[in-house]
Amino acid sequence: MKIINPDTILSPVHQSSGSAIAFDKTIHAIGPLQELLDTYPDAELIDLPRNSLLMPGLINPHVHLEFSANRTELTYGGFLPWLYSVIEQRDDLVNGCSIDCINSAVKDMLKCGITAFGAVSSYGLDLEAAATAPQKVVFFNELIGSQAQMADALFGDFISRLNASEAVDREGFHSGIAIHSPYSVHPILIKKALQIAKDKNLVTTAHFMESLAEREWLDKNEGDFKPFFNDFLKQNSAVNSAEEFLELFRGHSTLMTHVIHTNDKELEILHRDGHTVIHCPVSNRLLGNGAIDLDALEKHSVKWLCGTDGLSSNYKLDLFEEMKIALFMHSETALAPLASRLLESVTINAANALGLNCGEIAVGKDADMLLLELDSEPNEQLPLHLLLQHYPIKKIFIDGKVVKTEE
Ligand code: BEZ
Ligand code: FE2
Repeated sequence: MKIINPDTILSPVHQSSGSAIAFDKTIHAIGPLQELLDTYPDAELIDLPRNSLLMPGLINPHVHLEFSANRTELTYGGFLPWLYSVIEQRDDLVNGCSIDCINSAVKDMLKCGITAFGAVSSYGLDLEAAATAPQKVVFFNELIGSQAQMADALFGDFISRLNASEAVDREGFHSGIAIHSPYSVHPILIKKALQIAKDKNLVTTAHFMESLAEREWLDKNEGDFKPFFNDFLKQNSAVNSAEEFLELFRGHSTLMTHVIHTNDKELEILHRDGHTVIHCPVSNRLLGNGAIDLDALEKHSVKWLCGTDGLSSNYKLDLFEEMKIALFMHSETALAPLASRLLESVTINAANALGLNCGEIAVGKDADMLLLELDSEPNEQLPLHLLLQHYPIKKIFIDGKVVKTEE
């Protein structure tokens, strides 16, 4: 057993001082230091920096590790120019991202306080890195393919990747399923994959309503996607409408990424079916997709998280940076409550959506925790200052073990 007695705890829902925590793999007790020392006389007492803060480790629900080689190769500013640049550079980027490159992205996330992540895997090339990562992982095997004649081959490849990830035997590693998007996956494939997800109780994710091009293609078979589908895939109409797509997920709550160009009806469905939205502010800005309306999500009681997306549409896999960008992007939303909501989104709410027993400093939860050094005693706007100041992370615990100490 270990005992830690930080100056402040951010649970993240409650901020408190004067409590210590007794933990091994999980958190066993929270209370006055002397009480815990009496209960656990053999416990090791953890050293603390001054102005210490203990908070849950951060959870990044959406990253594409296989694209971690990108720095300046891809075209930013518009969704289709970016997509064409991904297709053109895909082989170089993916082949240029060795296991070392993926491991280094995983390590960089850890340094930034990310103790769990959801990795969307297109090819399975990130499986080994994810399987051996120190973090908790939900490994989303991605299904893509809108052409019916390719369906069998693509589904076979998806199943072999899913089987490979299910063969990983590591506590904290979970297999999941990603359906790429409504425009890129044939409904028959979606149905087959979701049946597997239901049978095996796997977590599911999808991209949904990321770009205006997607909205126009799904609604009217028009817009910037029209020449893309006509020329590349010889299609003149979308394989799903937005509502048909959502209907396929009814009864299986899913993490829906982006959700920028949605209407009220779709937000009602997202709420009705218990889906959770993942907001990736940097990616949305870089790909010219605009800003999600977080207040509309709140109005419809749609749950939302914050994620980084991959390095194909970001410059860093850092949730503190991502939350700070969100804080400035949503300039009409009340400041301090948004900071609190963002912190909850990458801890307790992300854990709930991914089915992980972490994300909260509470008895019974896994001891996935960050120890930070603040520069002074915090006031009641601590969540806001946490996003603005990038305080140093002194120690990181996963399942109660120290996985990183600041050099
Ligand atoms: C497809 O396979 O149909 C597809 C893939 C990527 C973007 C759009 C469509
Ligand atoms: Fe993505």
